[in-house]
Amino acid sequence: TSWESSRRCVYSRVVRLMISDGVIADLFPALQQEIGGHSLVYLDSAATTQKPQCVIDAITNYYERDNANVHRGIHELSNRATAAYEGARDRVAQFINAPAREDIIFTRGTTEAINLVAQAYARPRIGEGDVILITEMEHHSNLVPWQHFAKENNMKLKFIPLTKNYELDYDKAKDLISNKTAIVSMTHMSNVLGTTNDIKKLINLAKNNKALTIIDAAQSVSHMKIDVKELDCDFLAFSGHKMYGPLGIGILYGKQDLLEELSPFILGGGMINSVSYEDATYAEIPEKFEAGTQNIGPTIALGTAIDYLENIGFDKIQEYEKELTQYALEKLTQLENIEIYNPGSEKSSTVISFNLKNIHPHDVATILNDNNISIRAGHHCCMPLMKKLGISGTCRVSFSIYNNKEDVDKLIIGLKKCQEVFT
Ligand code: ALA
Repeated sequence: TSWESSRRCVYSRVVRLMISDGVIADLFPALQQEIGGHSLVYLDSAATTQKPQCVIDAITNYYERDNANVHRGIHELSNRATAAYEGARDRVAQFINAPAREDIIFTRGTTEAINLVAQAYARPRIGEGDVILITEMEHHSNLVPWQHFAKENNMKLKFIPLTKNYELDYDKAKDLISNKTAIVSMTHMSNVLGTTNDIKKLINLAKNNKALTIIDAAQSVSHMKIDVKELDCDFLAFSGHKMYGPLGIGILYGKQDLLEELSPFILGGGMINSVSYEDATYAEIPEKFEAGTQNIGPTIALGTAIDYLENIGFDKIQEYEKELTQYALEKLTQLENIEIYNPGSEKSSTVISFNLKNIHPHDVATILNDNNISIRAGHHCCMPLMKKLGISGTCRVSFSIYNNKEDVDKLIIGLKKCQEVFT
């Protein structure tokens, strides 16, 4: 369809060249701002990435030309919107190497996807005496739903602990997974520590014990290739807005036989076959899980974000981001009075948390913001992890393909300024 000819195609070759030169930020309009005479240094991509022009154009194109509801109309705009919306599902399926397009459910984000599994899979199937295993480094979205569910059903919630080097303790994981373990749900990459977990190892351990496996790929999906066939996980969740796509659109991938077995999570229009006053029969997957009018424009634009990522290529992205993270870790380590919570660049990816001695993270973030450097400070939706580390919060920088070494240098200058102000 015509929206496909948006500017993204023109970019692909340009982008490959630009990333090598560290000037890719030119394609992200929000990064072009100067505030108070400083250009913007955006180091908060783990919270949400900025959007390239082609993604913004895809949303605008939808609203300007194709705005209609999907699956319901027999008119030109609805047909176009439906083709583009279902085209995005094809793109997502290819992107994560899902066996079939029907295995891709559109949700509002990672949080909703995990809640869908908790409500639709876990609630009717597991109960008293069963164990849900997660890790000590989960974001609240992969902790609170399980905590609530375990409490309601008299189940045990257990945690794979951290090592001193901010990694998961795989030996302990082995001891923790048993035939009582019903679910193992874990993050692929920590949004605080940057640690990239060996999820394949944990999936294998879980499978040997017939436990269901759920992967939270929200943080990893824009940095490394995800292949659900190779991982052989049962469910995998991620959000569009952390991978250069729009807010409000997320993905739940599920193995087809499991998705088919589940009852719907949200009920209403669009997920039925036929309805009487007394009864209803439900549509097949994926529609069974997509009740109500969907977030159509952003879903289409998520397809564009995938094109954008794949045009650059994960080989190039990983090489570039790894070098940048390594550089940042080296520079941060050279600062005095800094504590860094990171397992090292070999075992992590693009996220670095740290604290400057005797300076509250919010003060650091405020002073950096005065210099137009955006970082996140606080507990990062990981309050139990903070408690475990014995702190109330951290400063967190998170890099993306539009950052470069100059951004790191500016960060270091900013941090030195903070230390001057507070000594
Ligand atoms: N999960 C997001 C973050 O880590 C909000 O910042």
